[in-house]
Amino acid sequence: MSRYQRHVFVCINERPAGHPKGCCLEKGSGQVRDLFKAELQKRGLAKTVRANNAGCLDACEHGVTLVIYPEAIWYGGVTVHDVPEIIDRTIIEGEVIQRLLIKDQRYAPDALQFPKIHPRT
Ligand code: FES
Repeated sequence: MSRYQRHVFVCINERPAGHPKGCCLEKGSGQVRDLFKAELQKRGLAKTVRANNAGCLDACEHGVTLVIYPEAIWYGGVTVHDVPEIIDRTIIEGEVIQRLLIKDQRYAPDALQFPKIHPRT
């Protein structure tokens, strides 16, 4: 079994104020990333799931953007209020949350349900 069963990559790219593309950091991605790390630790999942900083994921207009691997589940418009639900439903249960999917076929997941994780102690 691989060291981590899932990775969450949260875009924390920052662009100068007024940049036409905007950026995820100005939309709160730093807080989203921090809450993922804290919640995974609190739930005893830090050895099973890794939350990482990512640079621009090239989905800026959908920010805050994150992607969960190995399943390549792309979520957009993520806020701190979504983090507990993402952990419970997607990270642990393997269920795709349809309302958070980026509404662009290029980011569509291969399936809507994936295997549950098996937390390590
Ligand atoms: S700035 Fe976040 S995807 Fe580009």
